[in-house]
Amino acid sequence: MARIVAGVGSSHVPAIGAAIDNGKTEEPYWKRVFSGFEKSQEWMRETKPDVAIIVYNDHASAFSVDLIPTFALGCAAEFPPADEGWGPRPVPVVQGHPALASHIAQSVILDEFDLTIVNKMTVDHGMTVPMNLLFGKIDKNAHWPCPVVPLAVNVVMYPPPTGHRCFMLGRAIKKAVESYPDDLKVVIFGTGGLSHQISGPRAGLINSKWDKAFLDNLSKDPQKLVKIPHVDYMREAGAEGIEMVMWLIMRGALGDKVDEVYRFYTVPASNTAVGHIILENHRRGAKPAGKRKPAAVKHKHAAARAKVHRIRS
Ligand SMILES: [Fe+2]
Repeated sequence: MARIVAGVGSSHVPAIGAAIDNGKTEEPYWKRVFSGFEKSQEWMRETKPDVAIIVYNDHASAFSVDLIPTFALGCAAEFPPADEGWGPRPVPVVQGHPALASHIAQSVILDEFDLTIVNKMTVDHGMTVPMNLLFGKIDKNAHWPCPVVPLAVNVVMYPPPTGHRCFMLGRAIKKAVESYPDDLKVVIFGTGGLSHQISGPRAGLINSKWDKAFLDNLSKDPQKLVKIPHVDYMREAGAEGIEMVMWLIMRGALGDKVDEVYRFYTVPASNTAVGHIILENHRRGAKPAGKRKPAAVKHKHAAARAKVHRIRS
């Protein structure tokens, strides 16, 4: 039986991808961001998922305003990086997992979630930046460490799905994965956010208090988050903060009890608050969160930088 062992939340700021691609990760501004993901990459190497389900949003790359599916599941064998205006990012083609994706499509659609099935699709920074942050920089001629089932969510044109709908879709994905016959270890990503607004009079808005409360409740009380209406995201987290509903698909795909094994938050990257969390499904008899490697390893820059917050539950 396949199983989802953990969920990863990560921002997908495009400037992070540009910093990787242009060799700027060691510059002080960017080092502050990338150093917060070093332990995450260690965790990912240890966890070694067989497949990643990545919930992300397309930024008018694969889908134009002509056609915007609310939920689009990638069932193809591969997903090339999109040309976002300055050529495709120099990252490997993302390999899909058509068998698992088709199984999820069948299970979830028969559970009355009307996914769009996508058999040909490019993927933009919304997916490839979180992959770099968790898997590291990988030569474009090499391979990502595992295949991916992409799930694109509309958060670019009103109305996006509600947080509750996203959470319940996560539940349906969990059920789908657990009914897949092969023994696969799956990690699910929720990406986007955290608070940011990229245009208009409130451009540059960041709300760290809101972001931290969101991360706290993601671990401990996700039912509080599913009730948040769109207007609250817009008001409190900025117009693009609505991307955070995608994290609720990830959370819904986990069990009720999770162990928060890592968290990182820094402001800003470009004009965005960067948030990151790793939640493992709670295993009875397992050591409490924070006592297993790599959770016990403190972020080495956390104490030195007032704006970098790493908190363990
Ligand atoms: Fe985005």
